[in-house]
Amino acid sequence: MAFQAKFAEPETPFAVERVLVGAHPVIVKLRALIERVAPTEATVLITGESGTGKEVVAHAIHTLSPRSHQPFVPVNCAAIPHDLLESEMFGHERGAFTGAAGSRLGLLTTADRGTIFLDEIGAMPYGLQAKLLRVLEDGVVRPVGADRATRVNVRVIAASNIDLAEAVAKGAFREDLFYRLQVVPIVIVPVRDRRSDIPLLTEHFLERIRNRPPGREIAISREAMVALWSYDWPGNVREIENMVERLAILCEDSIIDTSILPENLAASTRPATTPIAVKLNDGRVNLNDLVRELEGRLINDALKQTGGNKQAAARLLGLKRTTFAAKLRRCGVIVPASLDDREEGWTSKELYG
Ligand SMILES: Nc1ncnc2c1ncn2[C@@H]1O[C@H](COP(=O)(O)OP(=O)(O)OP(=O)(O)O)[C@@H](O)[C@H]1O
Ligand SMILES: [Mg+2]
Repeated sequence: MAFQAKFAEPETPFAVERVLVGAHPVIVKLRALIERVAPTEATVLITGESGTGKEVVAHAIHTLSPRSHQPFVPVNCAAIPHDLLESEMFGHERGAFTGAAGSRLGLLTTADRGTIFLDEIGAMPYGLQAKLLRVLEDGVVRPVGADRATRVNVRVIAASNIDLAEAVAKGAFREDLFYRLQVVPIVIVPVRDRRSDIPLLTEHFLERIRNRPPGREIAISREAMVALWSYDWPGNVREIENMVERLAILCEDSIIDTSILPENLAASTRPATTPIAVKLNDGRVNLNDLVRELEGRLINDALKQTGGNKQAAARLLGLKRTTFAAKLRRCGVIVPASLDDREEGWTSKELYG
């Protein structure tokens, strides 16, 4: 399987920090949680936007579990047509439906003694959700058209890029299954909320390019890194990965500079102070909230302008470093650690609150 070929390196022991790069506290905590939950049999529900690393996390849990020598079977519930998903997952008997010429094992049986990864579980049809719940509660699988159920021993890891609690509230997802799945919920935060990891991730993907035969010298200029840092990355880590690949191809010498950045990335460094429009006559103005919002925006703009250098941003806003750090925390601005912060001696409390 391509995925396994990419992550499993039989020679070197598996280390989660090699596949889940990041120094931001949320990623450090995430790695610790993976190591804690992996050896157990607990069902895990991973939630996160597209490209945040849900499959990486699921595979890491499997690899660190006692099931690691058994199959890891990913199933993308959104990619398989609804009417086929049941027989794909549960298998079918010969003649169970038109076109079922022979019997077939389902993916749940293929995953026996291993792990099944149910990706985009929110797309699973409502009726099938009840059948999955039976697997989780009783450990039995009944293929389509079969009169007997068979026992399976699978660990279930599910992932969703939509908020399943919301889907439950809308009646699109079964509440009982939701609670059964999220014995251990894992939430992966989007890249824009852990900006300080953008340089690390960029460097990680550059290093991969350097190590790829025939080998190549490649680095990124500070200005270009600032642009990458300022951008919101709606496609998260996958988008960074693809962008680094693309920039490396476009780059004619060995330094990626701003001149080859696409417009949306270049634009991200331009200050974007948007004034807050206030209507006093609607009777619902909360001055404290507005002031906090304006503070937050100005702080963000200042940080963008200085490439995440908080010392310089504080100077731009005419604030002392301690006041600036306190404001960062109060405004809930996600604090990016710039390349300079460690040199300037910012403590991790100041950086991350
Ligand atoms: N923290 C990380 N460190 C290194 N690589 C990462 C990290 N997070 C994600 N990746 C890489 O980014 C890409 C996307 O990750 P993955 O497929 O796990 O995301 P996903 O959340 O499953 O996305 P989708 O919702 O689109 O299925 C992969 O190539 C993965 O290796
Ligand atoms: Mg995925």
